[in-house]
Amino acid sequence: MVSPILPLTLDEVELRRQGKRILGPVTYRLEGEGITIVMGPNGAGKTSLLRCMHGLERISRGRMQWRGEADQIRARQAFVFQTPILMRRSVIDCIAYPLILDGLSRREARKAAEREADMVGLKVTLSAPVNVLSGGERQKMALARALIRAPEVLFLDEPCANLDLHSTAEIERVLTGARDRGTRIVMSTHNVGQARRLADDILFLSDGRLIESGSRDAFFAGPGTPEARAHINGDLLP
Ligand SMILES: Nc1ncnc2c1ncn2[C@@H]1O[C@H](COP(=O)(O)OP(=O)(O)OP(=O)(O)O)[C@@H](O)[C@H]1O
Ligand SMILES: [Mg+2]
Repeated sequence: MVSPILPLTLDEVELRRQGKRILGPVTYRLEGEGITIVMGPNGAGKTSLLRCMHGLERISRGRMQWRGEADQIRARQAFVFQTPILMRRSVIDCIAYPLILDGLSRREARKAAEREADMVGLKVTLSAPVNVLSGGERQKMALARALIRAPEVLFLDEPCANLDLHSTAEIERVLTGARDRGTRIVMSTHNVGQARRLADDILFLSDGRLIESGSRDAFFAGPGTPEARAHINGDLLP
């Protein structure tokens, strides 16, 4: 029986590095369904917030809590980095790897990996080593690998930053499909159009602080802060 790991609660969470506050204090509750888009200028703390939620950062202050047992909390979430970390394996084994770790036979895991590669539109020789893939192909591979265990929560840090329009559209289609199948998605982007297309709700960060959060429609209809207004309008901040 798989029990849910959501909600995730952040209570006055702060990240400090080298004596400097880089995130927080952030109070937020991740729950329900849908796609949450994290926006904000360079250095606002988007990557730090995602890494923190995924458990990759040791928080300096506050409390962060998932529901459930530690092994479930790890197993039921996945992270797609802005630049995928490459393993020295073939594409298919790289995608299949989480299932191999789960104890599936290599044959079963590879079959599932083929299906997942197809789902994300990865049209490469699956037996090739991963280092021959282009940037966009690597990102699709990373997405296939992240989705192969149908995670309850998926974090993505600017997954389309280096992709062309076609690949971006494909990734967006995959993400909305995963959302519709019940995966809770939290993703950062600088692409305002992408936020409008994908978001159910928006988190807007500025200088490490969560200064706006709410539904997409409310956010785009009338961002409450000059920082968010400037960001949406593409203005240069002072
Ligand atoms: N390990 C670290 N040590 C010191 N400072 C850090 C560390 N990691 C991040 N920072 C700083 O924290 C701030 C937030 O960084 P973060 O990468 O979260 O921003 P971001 O919103 O993702 O920016 P971008 O849009 O450029 O990706 C930045 O000022 C960054 O320099
Ligand atoms: Mg970042």
